[in-house]
Amino acid sequence: MNDQDSTPEALPQLLELARQAALHSYSPYSGFRVGAALKLSNGEIVTGTNVENVSYGLTICAERSALVCAVDRFGPAIRIEAVAVANLNDASSPPCGACRQVLSEFIAPDAPVAFPAAGGLRTMAFRELLPLAFEMKLK
Ligand code: THU
Repeated sequence: MNDQDSTPEALPQLLELARQAALHSYSPYSGFRVGAALKLSNGEIVTGTNVENVSYGLTICAERSALVCAVDRFGPAIRIEAVAVANLNDASSPPCGACRQVLSEFIAPDAPVAFPAAGGLRTMAFRELLPLAFEMKLK
């Protein structure tokens, strides 16, 4: 999928909800306010924002915050059909590597992920963002 591909109708709404979620960001250390919105296969939309901590390393990103909220609300069988990320800093913010790995357990490989990039809004299929997620297959 590239930026010219037809994006699902949900994406503009998802981006707006992600932006609204970013208004709740707790980010006193970085000042970087991020929001994420997940469209689920049950038709629901769940949002999240980044919550920082003075220890820095315990910070949770907006994407994982939204995912944890989705599992809490709808249970472990949720499937993610689309993701939007926004920030209030006019900056690029693709989902970080940790968030990609965590999303990978719940998201369809062809799910569109929309995020602010250097050249403007970018939409990529999840499989392009994380082509080789870690999986544990014991012999
Ligand atoms: N952040 C996110 O919320 N999502 C990402 O994918 C990357 C980074 C947050 C974490 C931290 O609060 C701030 O952005 C600066 O790194």
